[in-house]
Amino acid sequence: MQQAINLADEIQRFQANASIETALTPPSSWYTSGAFLDLEKHAVFQNHWLFVGRQDQLRDPGDYFSGTCLGWPYVVVLDDDRAARAYYNICSHHGTCIATGVGNTERFMCPYHGWTYDRGGRLIKAPLAGAMQSLRERHLDLKPIQVSQWGPFMALHFGSSAASLETQLAPLLETFATHPFDKMQFVRRVEYRVDCNWKVFIDNYLDGGYHVTQVHPGLTNQLEMSSYRTTLGDRWSLQSCPTAASPASDATVDFGQRVGEHADYAWIYPNFMINRYGPWMDTNTVLPLTADQCLVIFDYYHAGLAETEFLDQSLRASDQVQQEDMQICRRVQAGLNSGIYQQGVYAPGFEAPMLHFHKLLQADFLMA
Ligand code: FES
Ligand SMILES: [Fe+2]
Repeated sequence: MQQAINLADEIQRFQANASIETALTPPSSWYTSGAFLDLEKHAVFQNHWLFVGRQDQLRDPGDYFSGTCLGWPYVVVLDDDRAARAYYNICSHHGTCIATGVGNTERFMCPYHGWTYDRGGRLIKAPLAGAMQSLRERHLDLKPIQVSQWGPFMALHFGSSAASLETQLAPLLETFATHPFDKMQFVRRVEYRVDCNWKVFIDNYLDGGYHVTQVHPGLTNQLEMSSYRTTLGDRWSLQSCPTAASPASDATVDFGQRVGEHADYAWIYPNFMINRYGPWMDTNTVLPLTADQCLVIFDYYHAGLAETEFLDQSLRASDQVQQEDMQICRRVQAGLNSGIYQQGVYAPGFEAPMLHFHKLLQADFLMA
């Protein structure tokens, strides 16, 4: 059984002002307690833009995609004026989720009693429920969610006020100037359910390349680890690394072709990553499911057309890296769950992006 914790005390056990040389990482409770997940839901996820999908999923009026984020069911649809709109995917009658998956539709009809909403979210039909006029006065349209697009991505904001995504990420976009989004075409989505707290996965991503040598031996001799660089932005960070001039000959795939000359790994608070390497881009969205389980969604894009065989081979190589990361994340979670481990330390030469993440989290916790 989970021990009751004092949330305020646990938040303060992380001392954000300490230098990276002396700082302790957040205590294990941040990674194991349902109380922290509840706190994160409104203090973190409801306060920031969350990337949920791609613009290419909405080409024609009526195209839609739906999903669930932190338990909030949503649907995003292109309306009759070709504007993207988002709603809670919840019927006003008894709360049934209306849309499923992706598709194209003129209107959304609830499968329960047939209440029907147009693409603008307006209730237009409620069979046998009385005059539409009187229903309308009761504000029974679908509840809107703020939606925004950035590059090829679509983001939702589940809270009340939101600063523009454009402004917030302008400095990151500048650093991506050598890697423009325009030629990128979506290739495939791959989802992994990982047995760790969502922050364990993000921490692993933000360790400044520290784990690469140990965990990804296949990657190590492909990257110039000595030239690894990190940049900390306001609510984002960027890790960059040139690729090795002469990749090892025993590489299982043609890594040079797959990775190109330079790899960029961008993270956007709280749970979105964009990875650029050679002709490839992939994005990772990390969604908490429970305190010690998360879902990681990989969307792969490629610049222009490529042979299917090359795509498959590259995706297999990528899957190998994901398997290595997931395995290590599971082992971290086992240690966190032990009750023995309390707080760790940072490797100062590498883990500044991780410390940056923990500071952002704590700031949000304290504002809640
Ligand atoms: S719950 Fe949707 S129509 Fe009844
Ligand atoms: Fe990794």
